[in-house]
Amino acid sequence: MNIHIIGGGNLGSAIAIGLAQFSAGNSITVTRRNIKLIEHLKQYGITTSDNNIDGIGNADIVILAIKPWQVDAVLDEILPHVNGKIIASGASGVTVEHLNNKVAGTNTVVRIMPNIAAQYGASATCISAAAEDIKNTKTVVELFDKVGTAVIIDEKLMDAATVLGACGTAFALRYIRASMQAGIEIGFDAKTALAIAAQTAMGATQMLLQENAHPEQLIDKVTTPQGCTIAGLNEMEHEGFSSSLIKGIKTSLHKIRN
Ligand SMILES: NC(=O)c1ccc[n+]([C@@H]2O[C@H](COP(=O)([O-])OP(=O)(O)OC[C@H]3O[C@@H](n4cnc5c(N)ncnc54)[C@H](OP(=O)(O)O)[C@@H]3O)[C@@H](O)[C@H]2O)c1
Repeated sequence: MNIHIIGGGNLGSAIAIGLAQFSAGNSITVTRRNIKLIEHLKQYGITTSDNNIDGIGNADIVILAIKPWQVDAVLDEILPHVNGKIIASGASGVTVEHLNNKVAGTNTVVRIMPNIAAQYGASATCISAAAEDIKNTKTVVELFDKVGTAVIIDEKLMDAATVLGACGTAFALRYIRASMQAGIEIGFDAKTALAIAAQTAMGATQMLLQENAHPEQLIDKVTTPQGCTIAGLNEMEHEGFSSSLIKGIKTSLHKIRN
């Protein structure tokens, strides 16, 4: 596919590198105004440009990885040059209805919510579109399946997907940081503590996904009666571990909606 990514920041660059590494045979262009900051993408065979229009007419899919308030201006700029394409927008909070009103039937609009782990083939990507465009959405699902897991969701869950799947990256990293800090307190140097904490989190995730299990089933395998794991876990729960995470996720959702 010919993929044109507008906005080579955190998300756009991560998607581009991920697609270059995990989905062979694509032609990928990334644009941003400060082109010096995407020079490094060239090493992955990605074309970089500070011109959003150059070559856009040959694109099969245009991915918008720009801030929500930049979407309208960029659409005004590119729409005279694209027709019959898929425009996939990753801009948080910009609805399919808003995008479709701008595009006015000239292109197919799809809303995507990936995360920056796309760079390593590990994004959780949520996708939605108007009911009549679901067929075209399959192409986008297949593309984002190459850089992780992609699912179609009802658009009314898009804010929730943003919190769980995109903000969730930060929440997971904060868990790892806290484990690392505890590791230092119980005797490891920072580097070793981080390596153990990060690998342990990855191992738990791999088991969960590969065994298609509920987390508690796997926790049962680690908790010996009267042992140290259950003692630590229960202390964390007394201190509000699950509760604080749930409250944080709900607070993020409230923030996104207000
Ligand atoms: N970061 C995440 O984890 C994540 C996850 C899911 C969704 N999102 C969403 O993805 C979008 C981008 O987020 P981000 O974190 O990647 O932001 P970012 O790092 O600020 O990237 C936005 C990029 O857009 C470029 N840009 C701005 N105006 C442009 C224009 N007219 N033409 C071409 N490029 C332009 C900017 O570069 P120049 O100023 O050099 O042009 C910048 O590199 C946001 O809507 C965000 O909500 C982000």
